[in-house]
Amino acid sequence: MRITRDTLQKMHAAGNKIAALTCYDATFAAILENAGVDIILVGDSLGNVMQGHTTTLPVTLDDMIYHTQCVVRGSNKAFIMVDMPFGTSQVSPEETFMNATRLMAAGAQMVKIEGGQIMTDTIDFLTQRGIPVCAHIGLMPQSVHQLGGYKVQGRTTNEAEQLLNDAMLLQEAGVGILLMETIPAALAARISRELSIPTIGIGAGVNCSAQVLVLHDMLGIYRGNKPRFVKNFMIGTDSIQAAIEHYVQEVKAGKFPAAEHTF
Ligand code: KIV
Ligand code: NA
Repeated sequence: MRITRDTLQKMHAAGNKIAALTCYDATFAAILENAGVDIILVGDSLGNVMQGHTTTLPVTLDDMIYHTQCVVRGSNKAFIMVDMPFGTSQVSPEETFMNATRLMAAGAQMVKIEGGQIMTDTIDFLTQRGIPVCAHIGLMPQSVHQLGGYKVQGRTTNEAEQLLNDAMLLQEAGVGILLMETIPAALAARISRELSIPTIGIGAGVNCSAQVLVLHDMLGIYRGNKPRFVKNFMIGTDSIQAAIEHYVQEVKAGKFPAAEHTF
């Protein structure tokens, strides 16, 4: 029996930290859940780490379906969250719903959509019709060209208020989980306090319900850019299983991320 939305909501309510990592294949999926990872994110970061692109923009719905099927075959406990890739959630609620059904059929338990207030109509449409949604705010890699680079978001008072407002509206629209990427830790802590749903942080400080990293980043094997929030958990061990167990322990104990990984 897999972890469900209910399990995650209860862990959050009890103040128990949730450990998440990205994963794209069956072998790693088994390693992750045996190491105690609660949420497996089939991220569109597979465009970078699997496909060798410099952005997530070329990733297709068929790519996401293929990797979701691989991850689902390799696991039976972890909660499966899957990214809606660029172009599959932006046009209309109806089109987004049809695209999301294909990810759900592949084994997703929740889809993740980048965007704030602008996505609330779509998120309401999906959640009313049986598709759980995680919203992804802050640094949204699918908007890298609009943002002008991979930069910390929510630094000014205006931007911070906008993100808090987005978070409240997204919760109202029915999101089950809110993910925040690369925003100041104090802002992420404030948003996490204001919401009743679990939050996931990446580069958002320790005061979120959950943490996530890209698997290849935390194993120290990704050859691209290494953001400040990444920690290489292979240092001090010679086993992938042990590195992931160490990550889970540090997340559960509130030791990761430390101040050095935070904005
Ligand atoms: O695609 C991905 O891996 C993600 C995480 C970095 C949050 O969206
Ligand atoms: Na993503």
